[in-house]
Amino acid sequence: MLPADLDRVIIIEREVFLFPWSRQNFADSVNTGYFCSVLEQADTLFGYGVMMAGPDEAHILTIGITAQWQNKGWGRKLLEHFIDLSVQHNLQTMLLDVRESNTGAANLYKQIGFQPIARRKGYYPAMCGREDAIVMELRL
Ligand SMILES: CC(C)(COP(=O)(O)OP(=O)(O)OC[C@H]1O[C@@H](n2cnc3c(N)ncnc32)[C@H](O)[C@@H]1OP(=O)(O)O)[C@@H](O)C(=O)NCCC(=O)NCCS
Repeated sequence: MLPADLDRVIIIEREVFLFPWSRQNFADSVNTGYFCSVLEQADTLFGYGVMMAGPDEAHILTIGITAQWQNKGWGRKLLEHFIDLSVQHNLQTMLLDVRESNTGAANLYKQIGFQPIARRKGYYPAMCGREDAIVMELRL
């Protein structure tokens, strides 16, 4: 993900999330040196992900695939890319948060080997109040 990609990233972010990150959130992630990747084919940018790496663990902060490219295996490919990066950096574990209602994403994470390990009560804003996050972990 380059600064020049951010206009296209933010369009997808707003399309797929009800409570999207701002353009500045992505710019900060790139500038901070987080692992920020995009999926692009023939000049069409259709997906992206951001991963923060600590000394021992990686956190997937966001991942999104534009609607017409979903369910074609790209989300899995992007996660596998982040898993490879984490292994290369000798990280022990990967963590992510997923909305309790986001069963599609949770299914994908479970297929890859992530396990639910905790719940953050009322972590996310929702249309009617707040929604819990399920914390999922993949031991590397
Ligand atoms: C979640 C997301 C990143 C997955 O990417 P994707 O490219 O659509 O997923 P893949 O094609 O790699 O999916 C592989 C598996 O995920 C599961 N899955 C993905 N979307 C699903 C859905 N809407 N409903 C049920 N299962 C789903 C399926 O089990 C699928 O396995 P299968 O092919 O054996 O059926 C993508 O759908 C997306 O951007 N969604 C909106 C934003 C979002 O929720 N991001 C994650 C926040 S935690």
